[in-house]
Amino acid sequence: MNERVLVLDFGAQYAQLIARRVRELGVYAEIVPADAPYDEILARRPAALILSGGPDSVYRDGAPRADERLLGAGIPLLGICYGMQYIAYLLGGCVQPGRPEYGPAQVHRTAAEDPLLAGLPDRFRVWMSHGDRVEQLPEGFQSLLASDGAPCAAMGDRRRRIYAVQFHPEVVHTEHGMEILRSFLYAIAGVHGTWDMGSFLEREVARIRAQVGEGSALVALSGGVDSAVAAAIVHRAIGDRLTAVFVDHGFLRDGEADEVEQTFTERVPLRLIRVPAGERFLEALRGVTDPELKRKRIGNLFIRVFEEEAAKVGPIDFLVQGTLYPDVIESGPGQAAVIKSHHNVGGLPEDLRFRLLEPLRDLFKDEVRRLGEELGLPYGLVHRQPFPGPGLAIRMVGEVQADRLEVLRRADLVVRREVEAAGLAEELWQWFAVLPGVRTVGVMGDHRTYGEAVVVRAVISDDGMTADWAKLDPALLQRIASALVSEVPGVNRVLYDITSKPPGTIEWE
Ligand code: XMP
Repeated sequence: MNERVLVLDFGAQYAQLIARRVRELGVYAEIVPADAPYDEILARRPAALILSGGPDSVYRDGAPRADERLLGAGIPLLGICYGMQYIAYLLGGCVQPGRPEYGPAQVHRTAAEDPLLAGLPDRFRVWMSHGDRVEQLPEGFQSLLASDGAPCAAMGDRRRRIYAVQFHPEVVHTEHGMEILRSFLYAIAGVHGTWDMGSFLEREVARIRAQVGEGSALVALSGGVDSAVAAAIVHRAIGDRLTAVFVDHGFLRDGEADEVEQTFTERVPLRLIRVPAGERFLEALRGVTDPELKRKRIGNLFIRVFEEEAAKVGPIDFLVQGTLYPDVIESGPGQAAVIKSHHNVGGLPEDLRFRLLEPLRDLFKDEVRRLGEELGLPYGLVHRQPFPGPGLAIRMVGEVQADRLEVLRRADLVVRREVEAAGLAEELWQWFAVLPGVRTVGVMGDHRTYGEAVVVRAVISDDGMTADWAKLDPALLQRIASALVSEVPGVNRVLYDITSKPPGTIEWE
C-alpha cells in the first residue's frame, strides 16, 4: 500500500468512523493506538495523521498521549476534538474547561480564506461533543471557525500543515464534514487517492496466490456476506484448490440456502459441499428453550458437522476466515488471528494443521460489499442485512419446531418485502420478524381465531453495538400488519418493537 493515513486513537468513540470516512474518500486508513512508538509510525510512511477524539482531558494525569515528535515530523496533521486540544496543549496553546457542547451547534467563519474550508458557507451546523475547549491558540495558528461554546472551533497552521477541529467532521450530523476531510486530505496533505476495491482485488489475489503457493484451502460458507466474499476472492486466486463447505442448519431465511448454492455453482463455480443438516439441528434443539443453550447447541453442532465434512476433503493447508478489520482492531494488534481461531475454529481437529487465510482483515463491512460486487456476487447476497449465525432459531422464543420455523420464515419474508418495497433497505440496519411465543385471540371473517403473535423489529444502527428502533411510517406498519395476518397462516396479531439498544438487544435471544 503506497499511500496511507494513520488515525491515532485516543480512545475515541468514532475512530473507526474516521478511518471509514477517509477510505470513502479514496485513501487507505488504519487505526493505531495514540501511544504507538514514534519509529513505528514513521516506518509506515503515513501521508497524513489524524488525531482522534477521546473522552479525556489533556491536563489529567494518565490522559492518553502521542509522541510529541510527531508534531514536528513534517507530516500533515488533523486533530479532531481531543486531538485538537492535544495539539493546542503540546504546541503551547491553552485548553480549559468551558461551556460543554453536546450535539448540534452552529459554527461561523472567523478567517477569510483557508484551504480547509474552501467552498463552504459562512455558517453551518456541526456535531460537537466536548467539555474542554481551546482558549488560546498556539503560535503560528489562526482561528478558522467559532461556535457559542468554542471561541475556536477550528484552527490551522498552513505553513506546518497542522489543522484541528473541535467538532466531529466524520459524523453525518456535521454539515460539510466530508468536504472538510476531503480538503484536508487532498488540498492540504496532497494525497492522490489510490484506494479502491478494484485495485485491492488485484493486489489481494496476487498476495493470496503467493501465500498459498501450491497449497489447498477450505472455507465454511454461512449464507452471510463475509464468508461468501472471502470464498469468492480466494477462489479467484487459487481456483479449484479451494473447497467450500456449506452447513445448512435449516435456520436461514427463505430462499437463502438455495441462493448460496446457486451462486457458488454458477457465478463462482467452486468445489461446494452442501450439507443439509436441518433435521440434525432440530433434533439437537428438541425441548431446548433457554437462549444460551440454543446458541451453544447450534454452535457446537455446526462445528461438528463442519469437521466431519472437512475430514472427508483430505489434507488442508489453509482455512479461510471472513475476519473483518473491526474484529482485528477490537482484538488488539497482533492478537486478532489467535483470538479468531479460538472463537471460530476452536473445535477443529489438530491434525488438520491448517494456517489461517484472512483476505478481508483490512476491510470494513461496506468495503466487503463493494468487493463482493467487484467479484460478481449477486446484489441480494452482497447487500444482505446482518443475520445472526444461529439464524431464525434465536428469533423464536421457546422451542424451535419445524412448523414454527415455517411461520417465521414466511413472516420474515413479508417484513423484508414490505420494508424493501418502501425503499428503506439502505437506511435501516436490520428489519425482521420475531415469534415471541405468544398466542392470542382474534376474529377473522366470523370466526374466532387463536393464533401466534408476530413481532416486527426494525432498527437503525452504525455497527450493531447500539441501536435505535426505526420510526417507520404508520402506513408502512399498517401494510406489514395486514400482509402478515392475511398471508401467513397461523398469525393473527402483529406488534412493533420500540426498544432501543441498550437497554434491549437487537435480537430477542
Ligand atoms: P444483539 O442482539 O446482540 O445483536 O444486539 C447485535 C448484532 O449482532 C448480530 N448477532 C449475531 N451475529 N452471530 C452473528 O454472526 C451471532 O450469534 C449473533 N447474535 C447476534 C445481530 O443480528 C445484530 O446485528
